[in-house]
Amino acid sequence: MKIKIAVLAGDGIGPEIMEQGVAVCSAVAEKFGHEVSYKEALCGAHAIDEVGDPFPEETFQICEQADAVLFASVGDPKFDNNPSAKVRPEQGLLAMRKKLGLYANIRPVETFDCLIHKSPLKDDVVRGANFICIRELTGGMYFGRKVEPTVNADGVEEALDTNYYTRPEVERILRVGYQYARARRKHLTVIDKANVLASSRLWRKVAQELEKEYPDVTTDYMYVDNAAMRMIQDPKFFDVMVTENTFGDILTDEGSVITGSMGLLPSASTGSSTPVFEPIHGSWPQGRGLNVANPLAQILSVAMLYEYFGLNREGALIREAVNASLDANVRTPEIQADSCSEKYGTKEVGKWIVDYIRKA
Ligand code: IPM
Ligand code: MN
Repeated sequence: MKIKIAVLAGDGIGPEIMEQGVAVCSAVAEKFGHEVSYKEALCGAHAIDEVGDPFPEETFQICEQADAVLFASVGDPKFDNNPSAKVRPEQGLLAMRKKLGLYANIRPVETFDCLIHKSPLKDDVVRGANFICIRELTGGMYFGRKVEPTVNADGVEEALDTNYYTRPEVERILRVGYQYARARRKHLTVIDKANVLASSRLWRKVAQELEKEYPDVTTDYMYVDNAAMRMIQDPKFFDVMVTENTFGDILTDEGSVITGSMGLLPSASTGSSTPVFEPIHGSWPQGRGLNVANPLAQILSVAMLYEYFGLNREGALIREAVNASLDANVRTPEIQADSCSEKYGTKEVGKWIVDYIRKA
């Protein structure tokens, strides 16, 4: 198969983990006889510095013309500490999601047996947890009407974000949830705040209608506050959860605690145009250039990319190599076993996985 990949390495640790992601992608392509080509493009703080726009038109064109986008991370502290900055790196990520119509963000949460002890949660609570969070990605408060902090007519400073959803937006993401549930343990949890929010009542109304079309799937409804609790109390309860943009953002960071490190969670964003594959973590500017960032979330994003194209053996080999590296204690510092005196960085972990794939 021929796959054209747009490579958006972005900021912070992005370029370092991307280097390993691309190396793994190429090793798999070579092994299975695929023709993969890459085109790099600017995004994030990097792009603001170079061309004044966190998601330049040229980058959009490159993404649109590609079969898939491999994305790393964006963000820079020089913008975080400046609430009046006119442009921010994160706007580049949001623009990409919106312009590529990426309404469905698929975030799997799984555990690795050898890392169970890295989770602050009890062993028997997390062992075997395996669920997918389907996060709506192009609506809600992220994209609803906003008013930046301004002084109003009464002399009081105010700001506004609107949590706006339409029925078609809700329906299409719920259907994605049902499709995933059907392919798994047939259990869908719709997470909302319908006891308070009108937008959530729309979600619940649409879900209760759709539920009838999927009688083979058990649907349950949970308020987001309760879901946040249930997720760490009894994560094995969940199979597929589906929720709005903001709730999904928060719940998936919480989900990373189950796995033990944010550096382990990949994601896929799909919709009307080119799909994007990216780690769920940020750009970790403090780790930049130190060869300490965990490349596994990026590498597992490559597995999701192959699987998206139905190349399941390719994806499985990447997962096997990742598991083998963890078992062999070839791990970045944040998940390193206490007993292991050997030190591995981003590059060494990536290289070990590439070598494993070549030898497989
Ligand atoms: C994520 C990130 C982004 C989000 C930020 C960087 C804009 O936290 O992908 O979860 O809030 O969606
Ligand atoms: Mn987030």
